[in-house]
Amino acid sequence: MIYLRIIILRIPDLSLLTNNTKADIIMQNITVKRNAKPIYDIIFTSEYSCFDELIKKLNLSGRKVCIVSDSNVAIHFLDELKSLFEKCDISACITHVFNAGEENKNTDTVFAIIEDLIKNHFDRNDVLVALGGGVTGDMTGFAASIYLRGIKFIQVPTSLLAMVDSSIGGKTGVDFKGYKNMVGAFHMPSTVLINTGNLSTLPKREYISGFAEIIKHAIIADNYYFKYLMDNYNKAVNLDTDCIKEIIYWSCRIKQSVVEKDPTEKGIRAHLNFGHTLGHAIEKYMDFKLLHGECISLGLVCAAYISMKRNMIAAYEYTMIIDLLKKYTLPVSFADIKQYSDKVIDYDEIAAITKSDKKSDGKRVKFVLIDSIGNAVIDTSVTESEMKEALRALGE
Ligand SMILES: NC(=O)c1ccc[n+]([C@@H]2O[C@H](COP(=O)([O-])OP(=O)(O)OC[C@H]3O[C@@H](n4cnc5c(N)ncnc54)[C@H](O)[C@@H]3O)[C@@H](O)[C@H]2O)c1
Repeated sequence: MIYLRIIILRIPDLSLLTNNTKADIIMQNITVKRNAKPIYDIIFTSEYSCFDELIKKLNLSGRKVCIVSDSNVAIHFLDELKSLFEKCDISACITHVFNAGEENKNTDTVFAIIEDLIKNHFDRNDVLVALGGGVTGDMTGFAASIYLRGIKFIQVPTSLLAMVDSSIGGKTGVDFKGYKNMVGAFHMPSTVLINTGNLSTLPKREYISGFAEIIKHAIIADNYYFKYLMDNYNKAVNLDTDCIKEIIYWSCRIKQSVVEKDPTEKGIRAHLNFGHTLGHAIEKYMDFKLLHGECISLGLVCAAYISMKRNMIAAYEYTMIIDLLKKYTLPVSFADIKQYSDKVIDYDEIAAITKSDKKSDGKRVKFVLIDSIGNAVIDTSVTESEMKEALRALGE
């Protein structure tokens, strides 16, 4: 009944999706454009059968390739990917493996990649390949953006979060002195290659964490998607192949649509930060002991709470958001994360951290709220006391 009411009362924002109807979404490649000009393709592939063609299309014949991966991902996929590249018309394929983990998403790791490129005489026409999750993609993209003032890079995302979010849109960067993504650049990938089969080795907690960004996509852009996620949560959390492909495709279309409209985050792209102002603050406060998606889940609850308190959404919509996050076993209270950190929760300190957030203009935090499930709005009037109240609603 509740869903029916939403669909009748709210006209869903179909403008975000272009050609495909929601009901008969078929997985096909997506071309991300800028000013109506194609910039790069998101290719859905089950065995990377497209490699030869890709090398030709990207003018990489005779060029060098450096695959960057982290220590967890490398053991599963690096050899396979390297041998696929070596079968193509390239001059060399080298690899660079760094220690997995957000704590290594820093300039030291980026400079180590760059050192390898220099030692191996990479020039402006050679290419970096990011094989891994968001950490690998963000750092490899950043290395590609600064090496010789910018070389090409290909995203091969292997985590759910990277497939639906971080590999698309060209935001690259590293953390700096504990502050998330403080140093970075916009640098578009040349191609994104998504092989959903790679999710089979992703640890369950990491897989579930990826659903926070997926649920965020639905909340900010598409109430049909929200309903789909609610109806199919059982299949989704159990990695049902068709269901997860559909979800990844749907989220990629939403991200594509937003980044095409606003490639460098001057306006609507900020909607993607829904849940991130307090989510990032919680992530830092918890000394990065929680996963990104777990903190974003708590941030989503806070942003929805503030939206409800301002009468922008109804109490039942707030409850529906909490219910959906719970269905995906994501945390919705501080009690839910006690198993990962026993740090005493200090609401004042978490709220204070938001001032150093990139989304702050120095005085005011650029907060993202919703006025319905499926529609986000930017608001710069959210006060520290509203944030603290929302954090208090997460319990202790
Ligand atoms: N650039 C963007 O637009 C954007 C958007 C959202 C998040 N991010 C960034 O992305 C990062 C989070 O991404 P993440 O959750 O993918 O983190 P991650 O890259 O650290 O990957 C999570 C963990 O899963 C492992 N892993 C990844 N794929 C695997 C696989 N297939 N099999 C086995 N293990 C695998 C990794 O080794 C790591 O231990 C954060 O740094 C966040 O700031 C960036």
